[in-house]
Amino acid sequence: MRNGPARGRYSLLIRNGTLIDGTRAPRTQADVAVQDGRIAAIGRLEQARADTEIDASGKIVAPGFIDAHTHDDRLLLSAPEMAPKASQGVTTVVAGNCGVSLAPAPNGMSKPVTPPLDLLDADGGWFRFPTFAAYVEELRAHPAATNCALLVGHTSLRVQTMDNLERPASDTQIRRMRELADEALAAGAIGISTGLYYEPAAAAPTEEVIEVCRPLAQRNGLYCTHMRDEADRVLDSLEETFRIGRELGVPVVISHHKVVGTPNHGRSAETLPLIEARMREQRIGLDCYPYCASSTILSASRVGVASKVLVTWSTPHPQTAGMELSDIAASMGLTPEETIARLLPAGAIYFSMDEADVQRILAFASTMVGSDGLPHDAAPHPRLWGTFPRVLGHYARGLGLFPLETAVHKMTGLTAKTFGLAGRGVLREGYAADITVFDAGTVGEAATFARPIQPAKGIDTVIVNGAIIWRDGKATGARPGQVLAH
Ligand code: ZN
Ligand code: CU
Repeated sequence: MRNGPARGRYSLLIRNGTLIDGTRAPRTQADVAVQDGRIAAIGRLEQARADTEIDASGKIVAPGFIDAHTHDDRLLLSAPEMAPKASQGVTTVVAGNCGVSLAPAPNGMSKPVTPPLDLLDADGGWFRFPTFAAYVEELRAHPAATNCALLVGHTSLRVQTMDNLERPASDTQIRRMRELADEALAAGAIGISTGLYYEPAAAAPTEEVIEVCRPLAQRNGLYCTHMRDEADRVLDSLEETFRIGRELGVPVVISHHKVVGTPNHGRSAETLPLIEARMREQRIGLDCYPYCASSTILSASRVGVASKVLVTWSTPHPQTAGMELSDIAASMGLTPEETIARLLPAGAIYFSMDEADVQRILAFASTMVGSDGLPHDAAPHPRLWGTFPRVLGHYARGLGLFPLETAVHKMTGLTAKTFGLAGRGVLREGYAADITVFDAGTVGEAATFARPIQPAKGIDTVIVNGAIIWRDGKATGARPGQVLAH
């Protein structure tokens, strides 16, 4: 913090704001000056001048939010203004989660695209990057509004390498996947993700995952996982995740931590103490989205444990997007199972979590905020547009689950630290000028299950690498996003 008047001319100056710096420290009053994409000065800067000056009186000035869990691999290229994220104050997205990444696809992708890879592109044409380096090059040649940090997906590697996904990979296939993983990490991926829950990876034993992920240790990468089981066997899945991290000697991130299904309601009281205990021995992170409904591909097994199911898209029956599965079944005169078979390939929202678990997980000190938004669904889960303002508005201001400083930390400083994104996530001189200005009194989600595509309320100005990407409720057209590597 600089005291006394700092002179000089900057590219951007944010005056009179209330700073929440991302470290969980109490808020302070200060001006923020930006030059060359970085925070040049923080303090009382009355004498300073800038090409662009923003009056943030009465507003919070925070580090730009980092979305710890996204499927934005393709959105970064196909809708580079990144409206679902920029509108929430997000300045960096971690993409390539749940074992699903757009690259590498040396063999392309034939139709129908294997679920869950179809969540990135059901038509398959976007799987056009033979190497991870080619994908990173494209992102650098055509930058998005936000930054990104990328994971390479184990399921994507399996689909590219194996003819029969229903068994463990052979030694030759493991070697090939390991080469592809290493190429991705060398090209700028910060880690590897798995989706062991999903069919194309469910047959992979723990040993396969460990062997494919070997390059992580040397390349300073991390292991992120949509675990094998988030229901009855959630504790076994946690132990599997910890073992993978220990044997590789790398940090792990438990994706969208939750406990699914009525019989498991309340069991975050078991999972969180286990995570906390293991954290004393190894590096563990976790993220969470602030809703008690999940969303992924439509499948009979998930429908079975949900109290209500909404269809988010369907290739053969696109008109069913946004409808309840039971209503669709009634109108078709079919059983739920028959209806599912008719709708596939399709996506769905499942009401299958307990609100008390969501709050306990969200409030856990090491939990980061991640949207897990699905940007290409016709009627997406509202988390795509609503996650960050919902944590700030509903959970922090409304319910008082934690102070605003803690909420901001969970979407900035904690996330940058967990993913090793150096020089990001905190308002500090010399750090990248990724900044979000918002109104603490009005910030909140507008997206609902009925109307999921709506920009958040109370997000004032969003700045990435010193450039304003979102202002007055719309994208500015600036595309300063960078690919953040380790
Ligand atoms: Zn997932
Ligand atoms: Cu995901």
